[in-house]
Amino acid sequence: MPKVSQSPVDISPEFVSGCIAQVLQYEELGSTNLEALRLAKKGALSGTVVLARRQTRGRGRLDRTWESPEGGLYFSLLLRPPSSAPLSLLPLTAALAVASALEDYGVPARIRWPNDVLVDGKKAAGILLELETAPDATVVVIGVGLNLNVDLSMLSAEIRGQAVSLAQYCGHPFDDHEVLGVILRRFSEFYGMFCAGQSQRLRSGWIEKSDTLGKTVRIQTPEGPVEGAAVDIDANGFLLLLLPSGIVRTVTAGDCLYLREGR
Ligand code: BTN
Repeated sequence: MPKVSQSPVDISPEFVSGCIAQVLQYEELGSTNLEALRLAKKGALSGTVVLARRQTRGRGRLDRTWESPEGGLYFSLLLRPPSSAPLSLLPLTAALAVASALEDYGVPARIRWPNDVLVDGKKAAGILLELETAPDATVVVIGVGLNLNVDLSMLSAEIRGQAVSLAQYCGHPFDDHEVLGVILRRFSEFYGMFCAGQSQRLRSGWIEKSDTLGKTVRIQTPEGPVEGAAVDIDANGFLLLLLPSGIVRTVTAGDCLYLREGR
């Protein structure tokens, strides 16, 4: 049995800049998000990154599981954002950072609302934001799972059909630390805009990379499905849907399924 290290290695020096304070690398964790939330309770710095080579209980959006075999990039970033900034923009900010980082490698990445990063129409990365609100401050954990060097045959058949592995797409493996560094630098850049209240700049950046606007979609909201043409996002990152009735409805959360191109 290989020995699984539970104590992290501090690999901060190559990453500390912008909003990044430290990077802790684990061999294996249940979930990097859970570990980051645990560290937050113990007072970890804003800008702490928890990285794992694999996860045994990776968490996805809407209570789903995030399959996390070796080869993927799995990390969570703990932040204590200023209370003035609209938190609903953070998942879109994170997606913008990941998509921009992939474009830095020449990979054409698009964003499916709110924060799935697609390459070639398939999911390359998913983002899960979890909040811990205390009377004095809000802690946000942004978890990113990127199918970097994942061998898709390691994923279940259901997930495999919707996923893309960057190594398989590009025909060569990637250096995980290098890619993490590029994503964190991009994130710091956009997080600076977020903290400065530059919502419109983030909104424009997201729109430029949107895969969703212009399509007719079905959003599975907590209250039930809503169908309409995705026409815009607002300054909070909420999706504006033009319903068949002609009414424009603001959708704040949900799973996005494409029905067709155009209205
Ligand atoms: C999604 O469902 O699309 C979001 C998936 C988020 C997965 C990442 S992997 C790193 C971090 N730790 C987790 O348990 N989940 C997130």
